[in-house]
Amino acid sequence: MSYKAFVFDAYGTLFDVHSAVSRHSDLVGANAARLSEIWRNKQLEYTWTRSGMGNYKEFWLLTTEALDFALEFVPDVNRDARQKLLDAYMTLDCYSEVPAVLKGLQERGYKTAILSNGSPDMLNSAIESAGLSDVLDDAFSVHSVGVFKTNFATYSMVTKAYGIEPSQVSFQSSNRWDAAAASNFGFDVCWINRTNQPDEYQDMPPKRIIQDLNELLD
Ligand code: LAC
Repeated sequence: MSYKAFVFDAYGTLFDVHSAVSRHSDLVGANAARLSEIWRNKQLEYTWTRSGMGNYKEFWLLTTEALDFALEFVPDVNRDARQKLLDAYMTLDCYSEVPAVLKGLQERGYKTAILSNGSPDMLNSAIESAGLSDVLDDAFSVHSVGVFKTNFATYSMVTKAYGIEPSQVSFQSSNRWDAAAASNFGFDVCWINRTNQPDEYQDMPPKRIIQDLNELLD
């Protein structure tokens, strides 16, 4: 392996996006899982819509707009949850294996970094609250390039910053669409298929498919 860096998507890959709603499931009520799914799907849809027309708006605002849509759409959700859910999104849980895997990769001499749609404030807050500051070398936010994934400019932030070729990056994402775009860019991609999703984007395959990040240290 001639990788120089292991680069990770943030939301869904390192951080559990559904942990915000899980934390407040009593308050949210019986439709908690549906609310969380619609919140996430709308948040992503807004990034694709805006990138397609070149009308960037930072991820935190899209996250808020997506929650407001979900709260309108899903019946019987207690509105007192709104601010609590937004606060929780700033301090999402990381998946349990994340700290040890990042540390292990650093000990083997690789750079470790995030490349995410997340606004810098969101990423910094999540990294700090999950205790990952010491095991991540960098957090690249697409905010610097003013466009969301899947635009090439986002993935090239990493190669430009490190002065390396795309093939020297192992890129991990649990989002199959992100894995497809990263593969198309030239990264060696590892799709983290935590929930046994069927494959898609078959003309842009990942190099590896694993169930959680532990296998990166095998
Ligand atoms: C991110 C989203 C796409 O972290 O999960 O970039």
